[in-house]
Amino acid sequence: MSRLQSVLGLATAALLGGTLLPSAFADPADSSPIDYSLRVDAAGETTSIPETMHGVFFEDINDAADGGIYAELVRNRSFEYDTVDNPSYTPMTGWSATSVGGAEGSAEVVDDAERLNENNRRYLRLRPNAHGRAAYGVTNAGYHSGMALERGEKYDFSVWARSDQPGGTPLTVTATDGSGSPVGRTMRVRVRGDEWTEYTTTFVAHSDTTTGRLRVLAHGSGTVRLDMVSLFPRETYKNEPNGLRPDLARRIEALNPGFLRFPGGCLVNTGSHESYQAPDWERRRSYQWKDTIGPVEQRPTNANFWGYNQSYGLGYYEYFRFAENIGAMPLPVVPALVTGCGENEATHDPQLLRRHIQDTLDLIQFANGPVDTEWGAKRAAMGHPEPFGLTHLAVGNEENLPEDFYEHFAKFREAIEQRYPGITVVANSGPDDSGPVFDRAWELAREQNAEMVDEHYYNNPQWFLENNRRYDSYDRSGPKVSLTEYASEGNRFYNALVESAFMTGLERNADVVRMSSYAPLLAHEDDPQWTPDMIWFDNHRSWGSASYEAQKLFGNNVGDEVVPSEASSTPVEREPISGAVGLSTWNTSAAYDDVRVTSADGRTLLTDDFSGDASQWSELTGTGDWSVQDGAYVQSDTGVRNTMVTAGDKSWSDYDLQLSATKRAGSEGFLVAFGVKGTGNYYWWNLGGWNNTRSAVQKTTAGSSETVLSEDTTIETGREYDIRIEVRGRQVTLFLDGEKWGSFTDEQRAEPFRQVVTRDNETGELIVKVVNAQDNPARTELDIEGAGRLASTARLTTLQGDPDAVNTAESRPITPEKSVVRGVDENFTHTFPAHSITVMRIKHEN
Ligand code: AHR
Repeated sequence: MSRLQSVLGLATAALLGGTLLPSAFADPADSSPIDYSLRVDAAGETTSIPETMHGVFFEDINDAADGGIYAELVRNRSFEYDTVDNPSYTPMTGWSATSVGGAEGSAEVVDDAERLNENNRRYLRLRPNAHGRAAYGVTNAGYHSGMALERGEKYDFSVWARSDQPGGTPLTVTATDGSGSPVGRTMRVRVRGDEWTEYTTTFVAHSDTTTGRLRVLAHGSGTVRLDMVSLFPRETYKNEPNGLRPDLARRIEALNPGFLRFPGGCLVNTGSHESYQAPDWERRRSYQWKDTIGPVEQRPTNANFWGYNQSYGLGYYEYFRFAENIGAMPLPVVPALVTGCGENEATHDPQLLRRHIQDTLDLIQFANGPVDTEWGAKRAAMGHPEPFGLTHLAVGNEENLPEDFYEHFAKFREAIEQRYPGITVVANSGPDDSGPVFDRAWELAREQNAEMVDEHYYNNPQWFLENNRRYDSYDRSGPKVSLTEYASEGNRFYNALVESAFMTGLERNADVVRMSSYAPLLAHEDDPQWTPDMIWFDNHRSWGSASYEAQKLFGNNVGDEVVPSEASSTPVEREPISGAVGLSTWNTSAAYDDVRVTSADGRTLLTDDFSGDASQWSELTGTGDWSVQDGAYVQSDTGVRNTMVTAGDKSWSDYDLQLSATKRAGSEGFLVAFGVKGTGNYYWWNLGGWNNTRSAVQKTTAGSSETVLSEDTTIETGREYDIRIEVRGRQVTLFLDGEKWGSFTDEQRAEPFRQVVTRDNETGELIVKVVNAQDNPARTELDIEGAGRLASTARLTTLQGDPDAVNTAESRPITPEKSVVRGVDENFTHTFPAHSITVMRIKHEN
């Protein structure tokens, strides 16, 4: 037995006596150190880590793009806002008519033959009646509290305009604060001629404001038409034209992301898949990349799945440039014509499908094609003759209809591989970490020999501690995994701790998990549609959440290869599965009878043949229509989901639950629960689930459920089934009609002490990452074998703090601290603080 194996033995022994909840790790009053060992086999077989290990997923959710990282300050600059974007919107959203010096006039948004172009259909028609010092026009209020303008900074104003006045129409343009006081000089523009022309001018702000406005006033009379009214800070990230807010872009760059997945998410594959075209332009459409390139004034806008308007000012070219500027591999996502995110519809229109497949081929040409190709030329015309070097592309996002999705995916992939054999086409496994959609999607991915499958999950913190070994058992020869959306539910430091613990498992499985990214990336404080988020901002500030700090730490300390290491487990008592029993249904009417719960040592804990009432049972979820009928307990409502009633004691463990069940009507079968501790904490045997297509055991913890066992049993209506569930310690065996149906041991433990060791080949350092997600410090004996000569000091970066701490605009309790550890040797002791994430870089020479 090698030394590593003996540590593994120790870990397994500890595993047998594990725990479930972090709070059970130790008595909160006892903060004395717990002893661990951590062995590193620096000469052992390594696994190489891809540069894409940790990346970012950008979606225009939470105002991430418009009103966020896209630096445009004018809201609704092209007057295209519509109720389809949001019921509260009108074409004048963001704007108000403004009169100075008693001027009269009208300001109307119209869509007529005089429009700027067919994509940008609406414009503002101003009819001032303003003479002398009077002026009439509009004021834009920017996003949320207003435009953030900074003293000494330059701002570029531009507008497309035309005037029917022979001598032209003078415009005066002023940036003001919220009370109307100018924060820069008033700019003057004379609109000449009745052809659409772009006018530009610049000012320098002479004071700061966070409630800025932009006032555009016309003088004289007649008609002046305005469109694409824009105010852009001169300073953008890397000075890109039509660029990004520097603070936000730099925060993302600081993560050192290996890839940039864009542009979403739900906003990619939902809505109609038709092209943008009048007259049905008011429908929300899926994200179609061709809408988003070329001159900004020629890009249509679209309703955003997240309830606002997307200007497409930040479009595919800008995304590619951003990826390039932050040194990340671009990973675009295109719609597969199967909607997800609650819409769940497949569009099987061969012509439309062909068009989208062709668009995807054109996208690859836009990214990589020579400048003399149609789409390569468009890239060059936008300022980038060199190819962007696209190597990966995802088709689809979280489709819930695996059969439809994989039918389309195969067609996209075949066309792409034929034309561009070097491109990896990424499939996906739906919106969950497990369950029938997930299982079927993976099955199809394997059948199709897909190269890579994208997984997404948002789970409770405990799940992340329990699932560190998720990828240990993945098939090494099957499709690789990209995990481009995950987060634990919450924005506290504790969330960062559990995510980091989980990331050690991702890195350890770098041969299977080739990409991972936390999601969502950005959120405007005034308009989040989704929390938690990684980076928060308002109009003038931004700050990283605790999870951001953890992602940054990992992203900047990945290493090139995983070095074998093993740590001992937290020595705690492992409790048996315990809890009451329960009966439930899902869109089904069922009758339950002869319920008996017997302890393993033969004592009767509960019997009910329903010859009397059902007083032993109480409602858990408060739904359903339960009554005793003909000596059985019947749930009659076929229109409700999860109707759980429960009986017994939460402390019960080691018991047999036996009963008979008959389906009367409806679409599913039976839900028989055990280990019931509350509404969000139980196991159930789901017989005839998923519209009676399969059966599974599901474990629900803190409201989120995962599948423990799954099989294709279905349930017949009118037939009486004999059900028995045997709970012994953490092992459960299930019998259907006297036959063993399945068995599992819930060995998942919420281990709070996790590690991964990698090597940075360039610096010759071992990178030891240790997460200690508990109340006690971890006094750890490190044993480093086969590393040759070790430096006696190591560089340490630590995130440490109160598990409840939250980073905000005003205070950042979770920030990295750097220090040096002395006395490093082949064998030395280091104490990892309670609630900490530590990166220890140790130089060695082989
Ligand atoms: O990240 C937020 C959303 O979560 C994404 O749009 C979607 O893919 C997932 O459901």
